[in-house]
Amino acid sequence: MGKKLLYGSNLKMYKGVSDTKQYLRELIDATGNINSEEIEMFIIPSYVALESAINVCKGSHIKIGAQNMHWETEGQYTGEISPKMLKEMGVSLIMAGHSERRHIFGETDEEENKKIKSAVQHGFSALLCVGETEKEKEYGIGMEVLKKQLHIGFYGISESDVEKLWVAYEPVWAIGVNGTPPSAEYVEKMHQTIKKELYEIFGEKGREIPVLYGGSVNHSNAEHLITLPSVDGLFVGRAAWDASSFDKLIRESQHAYLCAQNEESIK
Ligand code: PGA
Repeated sequence: MGKKLLYGSNLKMYKGVSDTKQYLRELIDATGNINSEEIEMFIIPSYVALESAINVCKGSHIKIGAQNMHWETEGQYTGEISPKMLKEMGVSLIMAGHSERRHIFGETDEEENKKIKSAVQHGFSALLCVGETEKEKEYGIGMEVLKKQLHIGFYGISESDVEKLWVAYEPVWAIGVNGTPPSAEYVEKMHQTIKKELYEIFGEKGREIPVLYGGSVNHSNAEHLITLPSVDGLFVGRAAWDASSFDKLIRESQHAYLCAQNEESIK
């Protein structure tokens, strides 16, 4: 049997409460017969839609995550949301370090580390996003950037918490409407670097951390990307925001993955 594949989407600052509810209802219907032994799904809506999203997804196969979180349990942090608040709501996953948080809002690796540490201490799964900018790629330091983001982002996390960690590799230059999808070879090379670093940081346990790819995933590249040996899942933006489009992308790419597995086993 192959690995369990992860498929998720960050809804960014797009869908409000009613759109999120409708989207999730459609997605649950469409993907209802997906084998949850083989595929794990998660959606990360805006804060205001979290409670409704959790209610809609109760008892379903879809996990709900938050796009951000402050590391303190409570305090004088106007405009921030604490782990305690998200726990009370029933959120199960916290994302930290999305490229838009790092590059539009100026978040640092040290801040991502505080968020990740706090998330695992509060019992959440924690998804750390990493990725180099176009300039860093041009300078030839993409791998160094990933290493730095991973070493600082996961600094001080104990081995017993490793099972709560996920990583998404999202090259900044590949994300969003102006993004260019990278070649599959490039993705595989960077994922191998990430996996090697996770092994450096956590030893054998680090091999268990799933590494997803995100950034301009679409219907024409998903099948190839998911069959790459070091890709454990896809983190999809635009191509996932319509439920039937996301369902199609998941089914087609999982099919490609299973065919590749089959071919591998008869070799
Ligand atoms: P995109 O977004 O698939 O629309 O490029 C990816 C992301 O930001 O996670």
